[in-house]
Amino acid sequence: MESQFDRPVPARVGVEAEKWDLMKPGLSPDIVPLSVADMEFASPPAIIKALEDTARSGLWGYTGWGDRYFNALRGWMAARHGWEIRREWVVRVNGVVQGLNAAIRALTQPGDGIVIQPPVYPPFFRAVRENGRTLVESPLRLENGRYEMDFDDLEEKLARPEVTAFILCSPHNPVGRVWSEEELRRLGELCLSHRVLVISDEIHCDLIQPPFRHTPFASLGEAFAQNCVTGTACSKTFSLAGLCCANMLAADPEKKAALEKEVERSGCGTYSIFGVRALEAGYEQCGPWLDQLIAYVGDNHRLLRAFMARHFPGAFTVDLEGTYLAWVDLQCLGLDAGERARFLEDEAQLYLSHGVPFGAPGFERFNLACPRSVLSAALDRLLSAAQKRGLAR
Ligand SMILES: Cc1ncc(COP(=O)(O)O)c(C=O)c1O
Repeated sequence: MESQFDRPVPARVGVEAEKWDLMKPGLSPDIVPLSVADMEFASPPAIIKALEDTARSGLWGYTGWGDRYFNALRGWMAARHGWEIRREWVVRVNGVVQGLNAAIRALTQPGDGIVIQPPVYPPFFRAVRENGRTLVESPLRLENGRYEMDFDDLEEKLARPEVTAFILCSPHNPVGRVWSEEELRRLGELCLSHRVLVISDEIHCDLIQPPFRHTPFASLGEAFAQNCVTGTACSKTFSLAGLCCANMLAADPEKKAALEKEVERSGCGTYSIFGVRALEAGYEQCGPWLDQLIAYVGDNHRLLRAFMARHFPGAFTVDLEGTYLAWVDLQCLGLDAGERARFLEDEAQLYLSHGVPFGAPGFERFNLACPRSVLSAALDRLLSAAQKRGLAR
């Protein structure tokens, strides 16, 4: 049966789509990038309708947020994630990355150590370094095919006197882990006992494969909630990244006030009316659309895994618990990271996110939020290019 997600969407060439503009110019529009984390699907119909109505009104002045916005956000977090949030926790931002940077400046001091867990979303490295803080890495460990937090290493790093914050990626981009309640509790206790603030990036929280469940870090009890700030958005959920609408949530009034002040100081306090209306429509009406999307992405992951097992038996495709991003170890190709990038792009015309900026040079990240025909065509190109070089069977 055809799925709504099978329908091709137009090539985003010449419209300044960042993901598409990262490809070599002049490629056929059939070549669709599988890199940056936005989707090759149109947003849900209810959001398109809300935006059409907003566009048609012709009235797009400065826009804040009110009861409808908060109730949509509160209702979604309660229903999907069992998390009761309060209005006074909300700090509006244009994006979660903006929020993380503001949290670092507001809640830590220059020179402080901030722990991250590579392989991880590259802007985490930059947010620490570019704000004059010290990067402290506690790498995840790949154990029996699954990424795990290294609690012994974490304990040692969180105990360092200069370390004052930890950036959690939950679910984790790019490794696709959905952290369990037990893991988050153990981490949270360590952070509390060493007085380390948790900055929890939960932007992928809605993209969870069954039977996993997302646990908001701040939902694990009052002490955890007071010791963290959380970044959320529905930009990944409903493919709205260009509408610039995200929320930081801080239960501790002092942290919230400091964060709000820092956002204000940055001068980025104007929000898009389209982002507000899209969030309201998405959180109010688009749960069923999201459930279908999650199932479709899960099937895309199964397709990718079966393809890899058949043609590249030495490759390793990590399980997908959350996000729509597949993380694949391609060291079996026997190419170093630079050669592999050239092979993928020049010979296979396959545009992926390479592992180097995440801190894992042997890996590639495939964005699975695309019609199955697009994924299949990309894999066909990979296979024929690899066969030409004798790298695949
Ligand atoms: C973990 C993570 N955080 C944040 C972002 C980007 O958030 P925003 O566009 O709201 O700044 C992404 C996008 O890929 C992401 O994967």
